[in-house]
Amino acid sequence: LFGYRTNKVSGYFDPIEPSKADELLLPKGFKYDVVAAFDDVINEAGEKFGQGSDYNAFFPIDGSNVHGLLVNNHEYTNIFGLGPIVDGKMTQEQTEKSLYYQGMSVIEVFRDESGTWKMDTSSKYARRINGFTKFEFTGPANGAAALNNASTAQGTFANCSGGVTFWNTVLSCEENFSETADASKLPPTHYGWVVEIDPFDGSFLKKHTALGRFNHENTAMGLAKDGRVVVYMGDDKKDACVYKYISNGKYVPEQGRSNSALLTDGTLYVANLKNGKWIPVTYEALAKVLSNEKFKAPAGVKGSREELMKQYQSQADVVTYCHEAAIMLGGMPTDRPEDIEISPFDNTVFISHTNNDAHGNIHGHITRIFELDNDLGSLEFDFEIFAAGGRQSGFSSPDNLAFDSSGNLWVVTDISSSSHNQGVYKSFMNNGLFVIPTAGPSKGIAMQFASGPKDCELTGPFFAPDENTLFLSVQHPGENTTDLSKPTSLWPHRAGDAKARCGVVAISGFRFN
Ligand code: FEO
Ligand code: CA
Ligand code: CA
Ligand code: CA
Repeated sequence: LFGYRTNKVSGYFDPIEPSKADELLLPKGFKYDVVAAFDDVINEAGEKFGQGSDYNAFFPIDGSNVHGLLVNNHEYTNIFGLGPIVDGKMTQEQTEKSLYYQGMSVIEVFRDESGTWKMDTSSKYARRINGFTKFEFTGPANGAAALNNASTAQGTFANCSGGVTFWNTVLSCEENFSETADASKLPPTHYGWVVEIDPFDGSFLKKHTALGRFNHENTAMGLAKDGRVVVYMGDDKKDACVYKYISNGKYVPEQGRSNSALLTDGTLYVANLKNGKWIPVTYEALAKVLSNEKFKAPAGVKGSREELMKQYQSQADVVTYCHEAAIMLGGMPTDRPEDIEISPFDNTVFISHTNNDAHGNIHGHITRIFELDNDLGSLEFDFEIFAAGGRQSGFSSPDNLAFDSSGNLWVVTDISSSSHNQGVYKSFMNNGLFVIPTAGPSKGIAMQFASGPKDCELTGPFFAPDENTLFLSVQHPGENTTDLSKPTSLWPHRAGDAKARCGVVAISGFRFN
């Protein structure tokens, strides 16, 4: 391949080769600006940009493609934020730092006259949302016994990927919450939810329990043919399920943010890929399953029938202990479902199954779901393996996905850095960003667009509306560092800096203007 058209307006790029360099490498003609990096001051109150940058969402201000709010998720902290953790136990100071640096940042960004993207720290919108920010629960588990009768939660953390809603808010997903909840002695059932924030309104902070509690990766919102809202979600764990939520009410554009109530009243479904059915994850259905005296807990579910009947007494219990309920109802375990995106061209649904070494699925694959009658509200579907990772397709361990307007899927990879110098790393080297056409002669074949610095994964690809800018996070560069005097990465290589900093870059060069 001598180059590939990336989208209608952008011209071509020459794919790059895998690399072990401690740099963010891009094709010829493209450049990046570091918009914000870990610990940068983001506003006049002196709040700091968090650690573990993941999901990005850009919200234009006054319709601009070069000025807006950028929302970034902060998934976890590491040695560069906390210092070394002795004997696996955080000190009180480290626990507080870990709550502070996780969560989300809202920052104001713009492209200046020289074409450089920058953060505006005088912004009235810029703020942190973190492990101390108060959230309100909504939906069936709000105030329920499973949540210790709480209607509010302290903070959000482990914010992995997310999604935007039709009403201009952000859904952010709490993924691997246990470690932080345990270290902080916070109630574990208050985490593992989908949270909603409004970048333009700091007082709007919700945790939607109707969407279930598990290791949430992201959300992909679409509309059923009849106007109900559909949200696809993956549970990023080995042998976990793919879900979709369908609201009871219909989306009404004129009602703006009050459409958020659609996320409090609806039905959660889990996918059974064997028979192509979406199964309702409801208390009613589970009670029926458990009423069978011959019931035996399936693999991955602990407890006798009596114990399970005691654990599950309401829809609140079902959404709170969602994975086990879904498995008992016939949800199919899959190979770590990460990001999900709905194709804007044909309503098919793309799911990254990143890998599952327990089943020998080392390189992962991307599944594509075809809903019956092309209706996202359908309860029956068919599917194909759209692309399997490995040498032939050119990528391994797919994670976040994004579409461009030409129907290319942009895919970042998450090859575990613990596999360094072993088989997968030898071929694929540092994690990267790949472009995979979903139609045409190169369908399913990955072309490498970016290679990340050492030990990092690239996360959160998000295009500005005109597709002239791609926002991208560089997460956990140098994560294998055990001795701060010998960091394995120094990205972004700021003068005089002795640590690696995760952060967000703006990539330009898609149109030569
Ligand atoms: Fe946080 Fe599933 O990646
Ligand atoms: Ca991910
Ligand atoms: Ca995505
Ligand atoms: Ca991952």
